[in-house]
Amino acid sequence: MSFNVAAMNNNNLSSVASTEEIRSHFPALNRQYNGHPVAYFDGPGGTQVPRAVAEAISDYLFHHNANTHWAYPTSAETDQLLLEARETFADFFNCEASEVSFGANMTTITFHIGRALGRGWNPGDEIVITELDHHANADTWRELAKDRGLTIRTVKLLTETGQLDWDDLESAINRNTKLMAIGAASNALGTINDVQRAARLAHEFGALVYVDAVHYASHELPDVRELECDFLACSAYKFYGPHIGVLYGRGDLLQSLDVPKLQPASNEAPDRLETGTQNHEGIVGAAAAVNFLAALAKEGAEGSTRRERLQNSFAALHSRGDELLKQLWEGLHAIEGVTVFGPEPNQPRTSTISFTVKDIPSEEVTKHLVERGVFTSHGDFYAQTVVERLGKVEQGLVRVGCACYTTADEVARLIDGVREIAKS
Ligand SMILES: Cc1ncc(COP(=O)(O)O)c(C=O)c1O
Repeated sequence: MSFNVAAMNNNNLSSVASTEEIRSHFPALNRQYNGHPVAYFDGPGGTQVPRAVAEAISDYLFHHNANTHWAYPTSAETDQLLLEARETFADFFNCEASEVSFGANMTTITFHIGRALGRGWNPGDEIVITELDHHANADTWRELAKDRGLTIRTVKLLTETGQLDWDDLESAINRNTKLMAIGAASNALGTINDVQRAARLAHEFGALVYVDAVHYASHELPDVRELECDFLACSAYKFYGPHIGVLYGRGDLLQSLDVPKLQPASNEAPDRLETGTQNHEGIVGAAAAVNFLAALAKEGAEGSTRRERLQNSFAALHSRGDELLKQLWEGLHAIEGVTVFGPEPNQPRTSTISFTVKDIPSEEVTKHLVERGVFTSHGDFYAQTVVERLGKVEQGLVRVGCACYTTADEVARLIDGVREIAKS
């Protein structure tokens, strides 16, 4: 690899655009609420969008809008833009363009892949899921199990550490396992899982590995070769793009999968995975989001490829996120009555934190914060099992996530707001 994270850290992140410069790309950050500039901590639910992404979408709709594969310029331009988007995501995932397909969102893509895989599975076959996962990577497989008479095994979450119970994971996989479904990072607790380790265990038994990288991809650049997964799904709206899902699938699998499709539609991968007319403008916008992230790499860190620029940008943004995470973690921990969940900052994790304040319902906490222009999320975020295991079903969790535009000042405002609520 030609980039050097240590050197970048030493350069004090000057190799990536400053937070101030990054912020200038996001019109949403000019919003005021109740006399305060809005601080968006709702990134794990969906991030704000830079101008370049919205412009790419409107440029497509105004100047290139057409259906595919016809003999006139706008149709040919659409074909070309979709191809370029696949190439962009090939750099994002570290795979081939033919291994990239698009869909409505991660959940819909996962149902679709499940339906295809399930055609070859029968009673006695097993799927391993985890308690830490968003239900998009759990209930999709539970539904398939209902349809096909399959057995589900669920790996335990260790609530004290916010990490998976790896002994339980090892014992859940056996020669009947057809699929291991695992999240690369938890959208509720920020935990980053060792996907490669899970993949190696699953592959020993010939099982496939389906990775939910929706939360992960906003913080870490996926590398499907390094993760050794068979499928990896993410959603562009979590990393500064529009509402659309993207899937990596191993080339031979995408070509051979018995996927439900219309007879006249192309049978070539990756098109055979995509049903009906695609969200062209969304695909173009998603690629623009990846290019936006790559373009954050500054002189001296551009690398010679888009993948290298992405690596440099993500490495620098990760270091920035780590600083904000420490500030958040320490600030929240110091407040009496606040309980913070998930792995300690020195463990593999993203800069997303969930907490409770005394026994105040999470929605009430977020409403108080809104008065200060601080936008956070509450509830279970569809990571319902995590919230059940933490015993917080009634109260819910307050979730705050740092994004590339988050500042230390915003984190301080958040902590002040929580302190005030905890005092009341
Ligand atoms: C970790 C995780 N997985 C899956 C999903 C579902 O993604 P989508 O909304 O694209 O279906 C989400 C959405 O919040 C998520 O955070």
